[in-house]
Amino acid sequence: MTDDLATLQAETEAALAAAADLRALDAVRVGVLGKNGQLTALLKGLGGVPAEQRKERGAALNRLKTALEAAIEARRVALDAAALEARLAAERLDVTLPPRPFPPAGPEQGAIHPIARTIEEIVAIFGAMGFSLAEGPDVEGDWYNFGALNIPDHHPARQDHDTFYLPAGPDGRRPVLRTHTSPVQIRTMLGEAPPIRVIVPGRTYRADHDATHSPMFHQVEGLVIDRNISLSHLKGCLIDFLRAFFGISDLPVRFRSSYFPFTEPSMEVDIGWNRKTGELGKGGDWLEILGSGMVHPKVLANCGIDPREWQGFAFGMGIERITMLKHGIPDLRPFYESDVRWLRHYGAPVLSPATLAEGV
Ligand code: PHE
Repeated sequence: MTDDLATLQAETEAALAAAADLRALDAVRVGVLGKNGQLTALLKGLGGVPAEQRKERGAALNRLKTALEAAIEARRVALDAAALEARLAAERLDVTLPPRPFPPAGPEQGAIHPIARTIEEIVAIFGAMGFSLAEGPDVEGDWYNFGALNIPDHHPARQDHDTFYLPAGPDGRRPVLRTHTSPVQIRTMLGEAPPIRVIVPGRTYRADHDATHSPMFHQVEGLVIDRNISLSHLKGCLIDFLRAFFGISDLPVRFRSSYFPFTEPSMEVDIGWNRKTGELGKGGDWLEILGSGMVHPKVLANCGIDPREWQGFAFGMGIERITMLKHGIPDLRPFYESDVRWLRHYGAPVLSPATLAEGV
């Protein structure tokens, strides 16, 4: 190798070693191998070399080119690795940091979500009246959600804007996300013989979304089937429940005639409150809380229960609604936002379960 090539090799290798980042490396590369680079110029000058030296000179230039390309590539790999190391170091999370204590930092760090707490309270109150807990699936057959409940095909509750439908099954019917907990009435009556006394909390779904409606919400269903059950049982049961749940022993309760396809007669149930202040129990205004009625004979018959022998009542109410009223929660949306500050504020203590002894 001639001196000029040895010098170029040495200079380039020094420059590569000094290149601290990929930009500096690229400048070195361009300076040697680029269009106007030093080695490129030597290659271009090959034509001017005397013919007897040209072959050897050409081979030497090509060897140098290969060597420098390899040196540049090696440096690029080293710089890439260093850049990655630096980035990993800069973005490293120190998982050894102690967590920020949530105020108040005490032995009870968690809290029961208000929805879960309300369900516990409802189960405690109805449990004391002899009800047992029942559950059903969120994805429900059309017949359970509508048909067996005497909801005819043209009923508005079946329209697409209320109901989330799933793709049709083998029977050609589309399963639904249950729009209420009432299908569990059907499942219970098909699954066990009367007498029946069940309470059914669970998730329900309707295609509705604004400040007071969520596409997923919770309901609780009640069902009683026995001999000689009358409207007075329904009224007594619901009045007792509402007074126990809201903790107001003289809470005014009003039954107002209404319509549901699966009950006859049907009644909406209102409680007394003050519309302006939101205070429950006094104030002369009425607030609708739940739907109820005597189980329709057709529904009993659909479940193989003889309506001449057995009667019953059913009711259904929105859990968010009564939770907001009981605790003065103004907005529905935070129920599902998992904001720890909100949960701490409205959540119930973990270590004091809902019991009737202390009043729920
Ligand atoms: N399922 C009804 C609703 O979602 C409520 C209801 C239940 C009414 C049981 C009567 C009896 O609105």
